[in-house]
Amino acid sequence: MERLGLILLGPPGAGKGTQAKKLELEFGYKQISTGDLLRKAVQDGTQIGRVAEGYMKKGALVPDDIIIKLVKAAILQHERFILDGFPRNISQANMLEGLLSEIHARLQYVILLSVSDDEIVHRLLARRVCPVCGRVYNLLTSPPKNDNLCDDCGVPLVKREDDNEETIRNRLKVYREETAPLIDYYRKKKILKEVSASSSVDRVFAKIAEILGGNFQ
Ligand code: AP5
Repeated sequence: MERLGLILLGPPGAGKGTQAKKLELEFGYKQISTGDLLRKAVQDGTQIGRVAEGYMKKGALVPDDIIIKLVKAAILQHERFILDGFPRNISQANMLEGLLSEIHARLQYVILLSVSDDEIVHRLLARRVCPVCGRVYNLLTSPPKNDNLCDDCGVPLVKREDDNEETIRNRLKVYREETAPLIDYYRKKKILKEVSASSSVDRVFAKIAEILGGNFQ
């Protein structure tokens, strides 16, 4: 079977993680989130985690050599995968291209989720995460059933350390300067599909599913 990948591209808070989890359930692609891999490394106190932590707190990009090692190990384990939060700059995209050709894998689509900066700040300030299972909530659009407790684990939800207004603004700046050039990079390769991600989670998912040939209206 040919190894196939999707990229979910978009600013912080666009809904990449939310959509990747739905795609995993409905289409069987494995989500590879560099942000989640890095947060796990920080939590476990590994050497990668110790290096990454300072960059993540500021909303800056973690050095490419660390990221590519994490991604390579993850991609090799799956026939169908979604890259969520990677690549983040042209140099990572070039490294990905080399890796995919080495393992005879191909990118099917790069799906760009677009949302306005104001909506992003609103969403991220209201995001809460379960520290046990990682389920993501939003106090405004997808709150837990019981006050600030995970529906599945019953433990208090937490706010990500980088979800404060100052760091969010810096993440948006880093996105514009370093990640947004990937839009043209993939447009030139004719695999870029743009989806407006300002509607509900289900409507955004239906648009992505349509691109992939499924019907979830
Ligand atoms: P990472 O974890 O990748 O963060 P990010 O790109 O900033 O993206 P987010 O996880 O914040 O947002 P998302 O788009 O997944 O949105 P979500 O679905 O949660 O990276 C964190 C840090 O790690 C980086 O700053 C960097 O330091 C480092 N890093 C990671 N990858 C790297 C790389 N490749 N190279 C170098 N450094 C790297 O949704 C957000 C909220 O909105 C949730 O509350 C959700 O419920 C809600 N929501 C989602 N969709 C909708 C909708 N349609 N309507 C209403 N609410 C919605």
